[in-house]
Amino acid sequence: MSYVVSISGSPAVQSRSTWLLSLAESALRSRGLTVRRIDARALPPAALMHADFAHPAIREALELIEHAQAVVIATPLYKASYSGLIKTLLDLLPQTGLAGKIVLPIATGGSLAHLLALDYALKPVLSSLGARHHLTNVFASDADMPKSDTGYSVHAETAQRVIASADALAHALGEQAQLREWRSKAAVAQAPALAGLVRCAT
Ligand SMILES: Cc1cc2nc3c(=O)[nH]c(=O)nc-3n(C[C@H](O)[C@H](O)[C@H](O)COP(=O)(O)O)c2cc1C
Repeated sequence: MSYVVSISGSPAVQSRSTWLLSLAESALRSRGLTVRRIDARALPPAALMHADFAHPAIREALELIEHAQAVVIATPLYKASYSGLIKTLLDLLPQTGLAGKIVLPIATGGSLAHLLALDYALKPVLSSLGARHHLTNVFASDADMPKSDTGYSVHAETAQRVIASADALAHALGEQAQLREWRSKAAVAQAPALAGLVRCAT
């Protein structure tokens, strides 16, 4: 089954980046996509740090990522970079673990000062894992997301950027599915001709 995997990379229980991720998930679901979440903070810490591939929770997380068509990664900015939790999880992926997947990075930070951290820190890692289709980052500062009774309130402009990213992701997945269908139809259409060529050659 085709699905999007969403990864929450904040160690905090109450988390702005996870809040934005939930918003993106709702937008994706409302476009008919299936979304499956990995909360990195809920993974067993020792297994994560020791790269224990045999641990069922680690195996399950890696399999979820392996079979996803797209990955949404949400992280807080820590020390001008993405979170260590995201790094420890990405370190467990095989070298081409994100090949062929569409990736949407989402981050929240204390200020705009480290807005580019996703570009200079996260994107090279995603590229080294084989991701070639990165959607435009979504970033919100803490001031954009003041605390509210139900969690956080999100500025309309931030919410709009999340929704636009969900649209872009759904669109890219649609194009990818169409391409796969064309390729398989072309392969079926070419099969008799190829069989004829093989008969002639033998
Ligand atoms: C240890 C630590 C380091 C941080 N470093 C940065 C930083 O370098 N740049 C920045 O913009 N925000 C920094 N922040 C602020 C967080 O990125 C920000 O509050 C973010 O929204 C937290 O996301 P979360 O609620 O999902 O954990 C830091 C926060 C902590 C706790």
